[in-house]
Amino acid sequence: MIKTEQLNENSYCVGKIDDRDVPFHRLILKKGTTYNSYLLKTNKPTVIDTVDMMFGKAYIDNLSELINLEDIKYIVINHTEPDHSGALGSLAMRAKDATIVCTEPAVYELKEMYRLQNRNFLVVKDGDKLDIGGKTLLFKITPYLHTKETMITYCIEDKTLFSCDIFSTHVAVKDYFNDTCGFDITEDFISYYNAIMKPHRSYVRIMLDSIKDLDIKMICPSHGFIIRKDVDKFIKIYDDLSQTKNNNKKVVIVYTTIRQNTKKIAEMFKDLISNNNIEVLLFNADKDSSDEIIKAIENSDCTLFGTSTRYGDMVGNMEVLLKLLQNKDLKGILAGAFGSFGWSGEGIELIQEYLNKTNMTVLNTSSIIKSTGMNDVEFPVRIRFSIGDEEADKIRRAAYYIVDLLLS
Ligand code: FEO
Repeated sequence: MIKTEQLNENSYCVGKIDDRDVPFHRLILKKGTTYNSYLLKTNKPTVIDTVDMMFGKAYIDNLSELINLEDIKYIVINHTEPDHSGALGSLAMRAKDATIVCTEPAVYELKEMYRLQNRNFLVVKDGDKLDIGGKTLLFKITPYLHTKETMITYCIEDKTLFSCDIFSTHVAVKDYFNDTCGFDITEDFISYYNAIMKPHRSYVRIMLDSIKDLDIKMICPSHGFIIRKDVDKFIKIYDDLSQTKNNNKKVVIVYTTIRQNTKKIAEMFKDLISNNNIEVLLFNADKDSSDEIIKAIENSDCTLFGTSTRYGDMVGNMEVLLKLLQNKDLKGILAGAFGSFGWSGEGIELIQEYLNKTNMTVLNTSSIIKSTGMNDVEFPVRIRFSIGDEEADKIRRAAYYIVDLLLS
């Protein structure tokens, strides 16, 4: 069922209620969900997000009852995942002159997904504003909530936050509004956080800091209930659930290095992880005693092993250390590999092979994707040559992932 609700003057929710058992990121949403799209019918009419591709035709038909689609000036895409951008292709075909508003990383994805190579895009950055003729939109970049390109949109005049996946619920609502739906949505709100947002805890903290000065009277997410009562309470739930607990976690980072690049990766991991009240011990396997390193690993919650690569192999004492670990009981300890390399980085893969022969829980990209749906965290962490901006971002995402696993 496609349903339209008026939010306030000239603002509408045009959503699809999906009351099936919905397959979603290897979950089955037993209570279904909704895909909420919003129309701000200003002098420069603007659509914020669309619906799942399956429901594109009904969505377009319904939106057409509210507005002549050719009049639409902007289509804001907060997040490219197809449950929100799925009807963009159909909408863009009819809203021929509309400019698509999104973050820089979203442009490529949207062009490829919906064959929009010839469309006009407006790329926005954190804090940018857009006058839509009677209302002003403010954009906040919220990477990894839920994927890299994600942002949220705040309407200044209406004090309304269009938060996409954030602050959502997976419920095939009968009544969109949390103050009139007839029951307390808190349990569903928390369940959604735990299922979708919890693996991205560090980014939730960044998002909360980013919106703390906004005066938010209504939250319009892209799944489930629109929150217009107790807004502060629901934001605080995210704040509470994303707090780190001081639970005495210990991380060991051990490396060998040729030209200091792998050492710099190790130091960056140390800085990022220790910022979260986690004790981090850093060892150079060529300088520190193997006995001391092994003892620290046995007492750790997570150990990261890094090496440079020379002639297709690990360097220094790394292999000796890994051999010494083979017969140890390291059950329950997370392990990950990293390193800088110039050509193929075989040393890093060899660390991974040794780790896989222990009984540690070894981080790898494939299992992270399968268990969380996150496609932005890579293990092993392979850095070609030195750390530039892109490489720093890769290390940061890996460090946040570890912190979130340890502190959740
Ligand atoms: Fe609702 Fe990240 O998709």
